[in-house]
Amino acid sequence: MSKGNWDFTKSKTVDFLYLSQEDVIAAGGLDMQGTLEAVETGFRHHGLGEYVQPMKPVLRWGDAASEETTGRIMAMPAYLGGDINVAGIKWIPSKPANPAKYGMPRASAVIVLNDTETGYPIAIMDGTVVSAMRTGAATGVGAKYLARPDSEVIGLIGAGVQSRTQLMALHAVLPNVKEARVYDINRAKAEAFAQEMSEKLKLRVVAVDSHKAALAEADAFVTATIGTTAYVTPEMVKPGAFHSEISFWDTQLETLKIYDKIVVDDWKQVSHHKVDVAYRAVKAGVIPESKIYGELGEVVAGKKPGRERPDERILFNPIGMGINDVAEAYRVFRNAVKLGIGQRLPLWKNPVWA
Ligand SMILES: NC(=O)c1ccc[n+]([C@@H]2O[C@H](COP(=O)([O-])OP(=O)(O)OC[C@H]3O[C@@H](n4cnc5c(N)ncnc54)[C@H](O)[C@@H]3O)[C@@H](O)[C@H]2O)c1
Repeated sequence: MSKGNWDFTKSKTVDFLYLSQEDVIAAGGLDMQGTLEAVETGFRHHGLGEYVQPMKPVLRWGDAASEETTGRIMAMPAYLGGDINVAGIKWIPSKPANPAKYGMPRASAVIVLNDTETGYPIAIMDGTVVSAMRTGAATGVGAKYLARPDSEVIGLIGAGVQSRTQLMALHAVLPNVKEARVYDINRAKAEAFAQEMSEKLKLRVVAVDSHKAALAEADAFVTATIGTTAYVTPEMVKPGAFHSEISFWDTQLETLKIYDKIVVDDWKQVSHHKVDVAYRAVKAGVIPESKIYGELGEVVAGKKPGRERPDERILFNPIGMGINDVAEAYRVFRNAVKLGIGQRLPLWKNPVWA
């Protein structure tokens, strides 16, 4: 099925919809419920094998850990099949110094969506919001299947961009949440985060003074920093806890031994990028590869059970999937078309060669 609305019998013009970040937001980009649905669909297609997702190239200027200092740029192409049938790519730089140096975001992204019939672009949009929302929603979908449904306390390490969408998603899927505790090495950032998110979510969000204080009683917690010194020790993970590590270096390799289940989003992508703690623990021989329970899509598609006991400790360690960017970007694109948001720009008016 074609996604473009061109009629080549009338005109050879190919245009696409350009959406700025403001347009993305106006088209429902911050609607976490919508993102959760799009991302769960992405995981289901992944579990059913209805996708194409080549390994992402990572441009970096040093070794794996340098991504948290000098940064990187990644290209994430993906095709989502089934009833969705759309292709696209996210081109996403990460420059960890941006917040301190310029007071600007670490990450920025551009997403291109393509018509699968002609290959022509149907949209070019800011991908920064889409990317952060889909990362929050990945944890949200993980929590839906892997966290205790009666979770009351959320722990957050890092008070940056990602922790905002992580908390939005956990709050949306865990109905009994009463409090979130956030720790950041920059106390002022943790306090500003607590104020902003408690107002937004009408939830008690408090800034605390240590990693330990944020995690001690957490039923569900997220590690989302740009640090490279591991601090999550086995004693910090209480029985029954769900831990989503969306950054890469926070958890000590030894800690991986205590989880009853370790779930990733895509083991091939995780092994290709080589930064996830799940991959590094296997590589270092701390845990056998057989301890990787599976991929979240397998759980969402009903191929493997999620949480089976209230006392299970479960780690979700996603590297991030292009299919989820495409799923969420396509949701925003369709809303924008429906609402008449964005600017139509020509790729060409009449192609020079055909
Ligand atoms: N797995 C995925 O799909 C995915 C997607 C997006 C981002 N990420 C990763 O998430 C991480 C966070 O991204 P962001 O956009 O929120 O970055 P950010 O720069 O906005 O925020 C990071 C925060 O971590 C804090 N921090 C650094 N070291 C810390 C430590 N040791 N303890 C506590 N706080 C610490 C910083 O002060 C900062 O406030 C990055 O590593 C990024 O690559 C992963």
